Amino acid sequence: MTRIINLDDLRLAAKRKLPRLVFDFIDGGAEDERTMRSNREAFGKLTLAPRLLAGGAKRDQSITVAGQSFRTPVLLAPTGLSRLAGRQGELAAARAAASRGTVSIVSSASSMSVDEVARGVDAPQWFQLYPWGDWDLTKTLVDRARNAGSDTLVVTLEVPVTGARERDYRSGMTIPVRINPNTALDVMSHPRWLLDLVTSKPITMANLVGLRVGRSNSAASLAQLNMDLLNPAYSWDDVSRLREEWKGKLLVKGIMSAADARIAVDRGADGVVVSNHGGRQADAIPASLDVLPEVVAAVGHQTDVVFDGGIRRGTDVVMAMALGAKAELVGRPWMYGLAVGGESGVAKMLDILSEEIDRTLALIGAPSVAALNPSLIRGTAVPVSSSGILDALEASL
Ligand SMILES: Cc1cc2nc3c(=O)[nH]c(=O)nc-3n(C[C@H](O)[C@H](O)[C@H](O)COP(=O)(O)O)c2cc1C
Repeated sequence: MTRIINLDDLRLAAKRKLPRLVFDFIDGGAEDERTMRSNREAFGKLTLAPRLLAGGAKRDQSITVAGQSFRTPVLLAPTGLSRLAGRQGELAAARAAASRGTVSIVSSASSMSVDEVARGVDAPQWFQLYPWGDWDLTKTLVDRARNAGSDTLVVTLEVPVTGARERDYRSGMTIPVRINPNTALDVMSHPRWLLDLVTSKPITMANLVGLRVGRSNSAASLAQLNMDLLNPAYSWDDVSRLREEWKGKLLVKGIMSAADARIAVDRGADGVVVSNHGGRQADAIPASLDVLPEVVAAVGHQTDVVFDGGIRRGTDVVMAMALGAKAELVGRPWMYGLAVGGESGVAKMLDILSEEIDRTLALIGAPSVAALNPSLIRGTAVPVSSSGILDALEASL
């Protein structure tokens, strides 16, 4: 087996393990995948500006975000249906995260229910919610998350409708995965994955089972329900309603402008997640890194800004933190880890990033992630529209 030294190696190892249609479901982005690519390219436009003899014998990666302390700034992003990558699914993520002093965010569309994950790990999970049009079902789901011990809710606003992942259209990817003349060769040539699929319980959106009375609990029906419930007319008043309902910490995910970050804070969010959903939703929108500075400038003094999208290296984490992010979410990399080695694969992914962060801090002369600041960055970290320009525009309206 090839040695796994970095997250690109992990991705390639996952590619070999998974049928092409499953790998593409995880790896792909929307339409021309411009935004997905630019999430990575944005890091390549910046460099770090090292200082000499300014570090320390031991570097500190600990952070506090949404009032909670973690040993590393890397949190596991919510991803739906992760058992497609490996049978241990979201539980593997939750356990690996807990063992490394961080947290995983259980998706509403997870393949293990939030209670099932909670029963399998001795640490509270965060829970992610979609902007659904049905308030009663939203409340039922939120209650389930609360009863399962979740203390932090992340509402994903970048999904008013689902993005067009064209790789999935071409590959014949469906929920459930269907073995037919188009997909048979691909699936059959990954017998271990197929064996896991047929010897474990059906992969479905487990949080939605029994949620709507009278609805079939088949995987196809629940996947459709998840789409049908999305409400493109979801409004900031709905966010306020959620804020009133949920007494724990509330983070708003999908922020891509200073203006929306300010509204989220005004509506009572305890943190904002700068995110374009890893380029899986709107295409041709900016890289997350390119809007991070303007969001930090707008609300960083009032709230925690979390970064999401394209993190593949410790240097990426360090750059995002130098630009003001309090923590980083990683999505695809933990699913690659799950595909390659279950819980230990996810832990390996976290260990690789953690070692890279530590080494980078030492090499650029920073004693801790808390000490990172914009003076350690060179290059054009220019926000797409600077908050100054936005302020001027708002004032002129
Ligand atoms: C397979 C897959 C499923 C995802 N499902 C969800 C989801 O259910 N809810 C959500 O808020 N984000 C979801 N995301 C987006 C991630 O939370 C995150 O924003 C994105 O993966 C970050 O980019 P990265 O993969 O480059 O780290 C998903 C991402 C992937 C790759």
